[in-house]
Amino acid sequence: MATYETHEHDVIVIGAGGAGLRAAIEVSAMGLNVGLICKSLLGKAHTVMAEGGVAAALANVDPQDGWETHFKDTMNGGKLLNNWRMAQLHAQEAPDRVRELERWGAVFDRTKDGRILQRAFGGHKWKRLCHVGDRTGLEMIRTLQDQGVHQGITVYMECTISKLFKDGDKISGAFGYYREDGRYVLFKAKAVVLATGGVGKIYSVTSNSWEYTSDGQGLAYEAGADLIDMEFVQFHPTGMVWPPGVRGILVTEGVRGEGGILRNSKGERFMWKYLPESTKDGFAADEAEAKEWVEAAIAGKRTEARRPPELSTRDNVARAIYIENKEGRGSPHGGVFLDISYQDPERVKKKLPSMYHQFKELADVDITAGPMEVGPTCHYIMGGIRVEADTAATRVPGLFAAGECAGGMHGANRLGGNSLSDLIVFGRRAGAGASDYAKQLGGFPSINEKDIEAAIEELEAPFHREGPNPYDVAKQMNNIMDAHVGIFREAKEMEIGIEKLQELKKDIAKVAVKGDKRFNPGWHLCRDLKNMIVSAEAIARSANSRPESRGAHSRLDFPDTDKGKWATVNTAVSKDGDQMKLEHTPLPAMPEDLKKLFEADKK
Ligand code: FUM
Repeated sequence: MATYETHEHDVIVIGAGGAGLRAAIEVSAMGLNVGLICKSLLGKAHTVMAEGGVAAALANVDPQDGWETHFKDTMNGGKLLNNWRMAQLHAQEAPDRVRELERWGAVFDRTKDGRILQRAFGGHKWKRLCHVGDRTGLEMIRTLQDQGVHQGITVYMECTISKLFKDGDKISGAFGYYREDGRYVLFKAKAVVLATGGVGKIYSVTSNSWEYTSDGQGLAYEAGADLIDMEFVQFHPTGMVWPPGVRGILVTEGVRGEGGILRNSKGERFMWKYLPESTKDGFAADEAEAKEWVEAAIAGKRTEARRPPELSTRDNVARAIYIENKEGRGSPHGGVFLDISYQDPERVKKKLPSMYHQFKELADVDITAGPMEVGPTCHYIMGGIRVEADTAATRVPGLFAAGECAGGMHGANRLGGNSLSDLIVFGRRAGAGASDYAKQLGGFPSINEKDIEAAIEELEAPFHREGPNPYDVAKQMNNIMDAHVGIFREAKEMEIGIEKLQELKKDIAKVAVKGDKRFNPGWHLCRDLKNMIVSAEAIARSANSRPESRGAHSRLDFPDTDKGKWATVNTAVSKDGDQMKLEHTPLPAMPEDLKKLFEADKK
């Protein structure tokens, strides 16, 4: 049998973005030995793609804000499908987590009187996004990384985990390989925290980079956890569309938060047409009112003017851009125009430095002189591993999950800025939950040598067979997901998509590569595909099972949002032998005191 190195930690954290780093810091602070495993280099995480800010009701700019309003905005944005307890903890704890980052050295932008500056974002009633220009995620990762390194956390870089091990029903460790040379590595652990992020690479246009191949979702599913609400995939309305090599790269919502205007090829400011009747009251009635709001925001002044229509929720803006294109009013490369060039160029460069450089360097466009071309890009998945709100525990003893790979917090649609706060609130809770569990467990559970042999055999199989090329298979998966389970869905398309994915599964079981384990990304992709197909199938089946439109799940054949059964259930998939089992499970009931918060709105 091939050799492998062995490490032992009370807790291992798989994934080193915001949630993973925050979880590892907590484990270490609780006096346990933690190993942090990242697929890429430390510091390179999708967290940096949340650019415009971290949502926390500090009320520094709009004093009317508070956790209750943040909670309500989050639930309304999620179309009330969120796990209420997660949304409550998130809204209550985000301010403390942001202040903690500040204590650890994060350098936020400031109000004139020296407090953390907050900006507007879609779906947030008040200016709530604490930010560092348009590099907020980057600053958070830098801060957490410094804090983690300072605490002496052991980090394993460029390491992919391919298997979780169990002793009976309990987690006992993980197995994987170093990407550089294929060396195998075994981690013995009492508890495992999954913080691997999203699934963007299953779609062809995405803001996600190569790491986001559904790893945590796949590992958890194989280990016996269930995945909820996988039909809810967020297409961020504004990704770059041109040139082709950069298609999908994020254009922060911060551009719209700072007053960026969306127009179609006819020059029409189209977002007014798409505001849902139920939310219209919250938005400016016309150009003049929207202008007043922007001017007041720039001057840091209070105003009665309402928000511009570009600050509708992401699901709504993405659909609007899609429809404008479909109806022939798109920009030359399949997007629409986003314009902030009417503002003072120096202000634009100060508030949006990354966007300025990104467009200048990648597209030769000066955003202070003219509009950007933007279109929807797969950015985030609201669904994920089902967890218990307070501890982040899955239903598999010893397995915890936090951040994007966990489900429940964001319901049917996530508000911008709520992922960065999610990472630090539930990263901390997952670290604490895993540490409490590990302490109670006492000794290390055991790992069966036969399981290790099987894990190695599975990893090496692509070298010993003839079969399809993994890149061809990944491309086919992208095509299926784009065509059959994209922004708009309907039964006849999804059913074909599900059949095609079944066929693709057979190819994934046979994918083959040449060469050896050193510097061989084709070999890595063979393993990644097994995780990707879990999410692809879960998205397609879950979407087909929900006969309504809600949040990011938009059905042409069921355009209305149901007020009955579908408002009260989560979709859940789990592994049942070789099959994917699908159920609809009741949402946890919201307590009366929280329900009351919504009643005032109805009057
Ligand atoms: O647009 C953005 O800056 C992304 C933020 C987020 O996904 O939360």
